[in-house]
Amino acid sequence: MARQILVLNGPNLNLLGTREPEVYGTETLDDILADLRSHAGANNAELRDFQSNTEGELIDALHEAKTWADGVIFNPGAFTHYSIALRDAVASIDLPVVEVHLSNIHAREEFRHHSVLSAVCLGVVAGFGRTSYFVALEGLLTHLG
Ligand code: DQA
Repeated sequence: MARQILVLNGPNLNLLGTREPEVYGTETLDDILADLRSHAGANNAELRDFQSNTEGELIDALHEAKTWADGVIFNPGAFTHYSIALRDAVASIDLPVVEVHLSNIHAREEFRHHSVLSAVCLGVVAGFGRTSYFVALEGLLTHLG
């Protein structure tokens, strides 16, 4: 049976394509998700995606994932750096979660260097632009076996 994967994106990632293109590239989130979905299909996985600018909606999506998903790919956006509530949600659901960033957060402003989520995630991929999502999917599917 195909693996069921949630691809969750946090605040401002709906603006990909026009948002600081020198940092995040010129592709939209829909462009990336379309390619990621076909890559998943070729690897016996199905994606559901959800984007929200609201912390509570991301928490609800993580809780709900527990009922149907085998794993989660999560770009928490700026919440990465301070949302203990999202960290607790990840820790609560007992699913493998891969943290993803388009940019290399460690090479940017000091306030981006720390993630409050990484310690409760299966792994972290950062700095490869859209490819970060593909590496995360690869790692997650390998982990799931
Ligand atoms: C980001 C990095 C975060 O620091 C930033 O707030 C984002 C995007 C990334 O994908 O590189 O919104 O998660």
